[in-house]
Amino acid sequence: MLFLRKKDVPFHQIIPEGYVDIHSHLLHGIDDGVKTIYQSTYILEQFEKLGIQKVITTPHVLKDIWPNSSKTILKTLKELKTVLTPLGVSKIELHASAEYMMDDLFLERLKNKDILPLHQDYILVEMSTFSPPINLKEIIFEIKLAGYIPVLAHPERYSFYQNNLKEYDELKNLGFLFQLNLLSLSGYYGKDIKSFSKKLIDYNYIDFTGTDIHNYYQLEILEKGFNTPIAKKVETIMRNNLIFS
Ligand SMILES: [Fe+2]
Repeated sequence: MLFLRKKDVPFHQIIPEGYVDIHSHLLHGIDDGVKTIYQSTYILEQFEKLGIQKVITTPHVLKDIWPNSSKTILKTLKELKTVLTPLGVSKIELHASAEYMMDDLFLERLKNKDILPLHQDYILVEMSTFSPPINLKEIIFEIKLAGYIPVLAHPERYSFYQNNLKEYDELKNLGFLFQLNLLSLSGYYGKDIKSFSKKLIDYNYIDFTGTDIHNYYQLEILEKGFNTPIAKKVETIMRNNLIFS
């Protein structure tokens, strides 16, 4: 007897009109994301076909590995933009910001006012998936002093908070907004992270979503979509990203 797997809701069906993706690694060769300008173009072309209106791509800024500056990011964005229209990708709106690791380099950039916000005063920040920064309180203070609103990338990936949601309550009280990776709901990072994602959604911790896409393989997984209960939940949250349009 043949058992057919319950059909998933494909990703394109849940993308709200005007959706803005606020987390991706689509600037070629400057972090662990796409390697070539053509890979960037291909993914952006697929995003356009899926119905995504705007992409604010966010290369890593990480002291010892990818110490990208606003200058290198904007230069690479400019290069990519020169090929997009000739290659037929002209509808999707492309902007660049960064995913700032909350390290010393980030503190330096904050003090020097050398930050590329996502949109208005929102900035995308991350921490190590092994442990939170020891000076997290100082960093939060500096973020606020500089007038920014921190959006914490993929809170579901910080497993050390999994059984300690009080810490997340504190971060929320301090003004952090939470951005969930859609790929976490696809199971891409494993089943623990998938279930932590669902818990964070159910407890209303999640403010925004992002693809955090780096390559073709992740695109393929994302396009498959989600099962119906997850699709329903995430569809509602995805509408919040319209504030970035
Ligand atoms: Fe990322």
